Amino acid sequence: MANHCGRKPATTFASDDQMTDMADAGRVIRYRLEASEVEWEIGDGRTVRGYGFNGQVPGPVLEAKQGVPLEIEFTNRLPEPTVIHWHGLRIPAAMDGTEVVQRPVQPGETFTYRFTPPDAGTFWYHPHLNETEQLEKGLYGALVVRAADELALDGEQILVFDDLRVDNTGQIAKFGGLMDRHNGREGNVRLINGTSEPELRIAAGQIERWRIVNASSARYVRLSLGGAPFQIIGTDGGLIEAPISATEVLLPPADRVELAVGPFENEDAVLNIEDLPYYRMAGKKGVERFGTIRVTAPKPSTARVPARLREIAPLVNGEPNVTRTVTLGFKLSLRRGLDFVVNGERHHHDEPVKVGQLQVWDVVNATRMDHPFHLHGFFFQVLAINGKKPAWRSLEDVINVPPQATVRIAWYPDDRPGSWMYHCHILEHHASGMMAHFDVVR
Ligand code: C2O
Ligand code: CU
Ligand code: CU
Repeated sequence: MANHCGRKPATTFASDDQMTDMADAGRVIRYRLEASEVEWEIGDGRTVRGYGFNGQVPGPVLEAKQGVPLEIEFTNRLPEPTVIHWHGLRIPAAMDGTEVVQRPVQPGETFTYRFTPPDAGTFWYHPHLNETEQLEKGLYGALVVRAADELALDGEQILVFDDLRVDNTGQIAKFGGLMDRHNGREGNVRLINGTSEPELRIAAGQIERWRIVNASSARYVRLSLGGAPFQIIGTDGGLIEAPISATEVLLPPADRVELAVGPFENEDAVLNIEDLPYYRMAGKKGVERFGTIRVTAPKPSTARVPARLREIAPLVNGEPNVTRTVTLGFKLSLRRGLDFVVNGERHHHDEPVKVGQLQVWDVVNATRMDHPFHLHGFFFQVLAINGKKPAWRSLEDVINVPPQATVRIAWYPDDRPGSWMYHCHILEHHASGMMAHFDVVR
């Protein structure tokens, strides 16, 4: 398959003598992305007919720099329209890549996205049209925005998790109707970076920065690295304030986490990258393997994970006034069998919010299953989950809302007016109506 772009920026405008921080602002990082049908090799010689960006699944890792303009010329060579969303990026509404802000890109058409990523972190891109099929078929990729003073450990790996349902002909299974719409579609093949159960490597003695994206349609990945401890250093909106030691972390669909992994002592040790049982009240699974880590020959380490990673100013001090309640619900429907709704309505049209007015939302899950709530274009801080303050502060664009729970979030609409949306990131729920659009107005 033709690879029009690869992993490096296609061009930049800087000449060598301009490579200073000041000149950085004048540079543009350019990429070309093309979506097309691909023969997707998922490992062990198995191939499925899917969709890819630049002939590959996942699409190329787009490397961007905080504050440096990015230009992505997107061409649609699929047999159907699509539109590309830059998940987690705080960019102008017109560039959000949803069907409410732009006309879908028709087969054969090109659309150029232009924006300047304001935050360093791990993001991803994916279609925002016919998502249940287009993402399942492989249209997704990671987008890394680096800060000028990026925390560098001994190495870095980007891991995009996905699960694929393959049928007994070896192809991506047809959509499973009502059950899948209710539960969300989980797969029987588990992939990291498009490959079924790959072996990753890390040198003994070293500490690496792992950027992890869960691109699954519905699977909650309760990630464990063979039970070995790691440090959580970042979430959706970049670094957290201080590293957290853990042996597992839950990633609902669309969630990201950054880990400091290692050091491992024993050369040749093999650890399972596994998804521990998580009962989200829809489907049940045991321990499932996504891949393995092989510890290779020792190498010297210069990595140091600082005790303080950054400061995150709290958006709210004291008891806030709740400005809005968003209720995630479920309804039986004579016509469609079932609907997922927001405030009683499919594709809810929510009230506008005003630039500069702090938002405090209670996101209420009125159903008996988990929903990963996602807000486009803005980070929120979680103030409380069922009245209980989270253990640490972070910036998020996805948060799990457990059954019958209330998650209180705060976010600040900065001056980016336009149409935005929020929705459940279980793709089948989003498609079945659990989404809302609203305007940010001046
Ligand atoms: Cu991953 Cu509407 O977004
Ligand atoms: Cu999004
Ligand atoms: Cu949902």
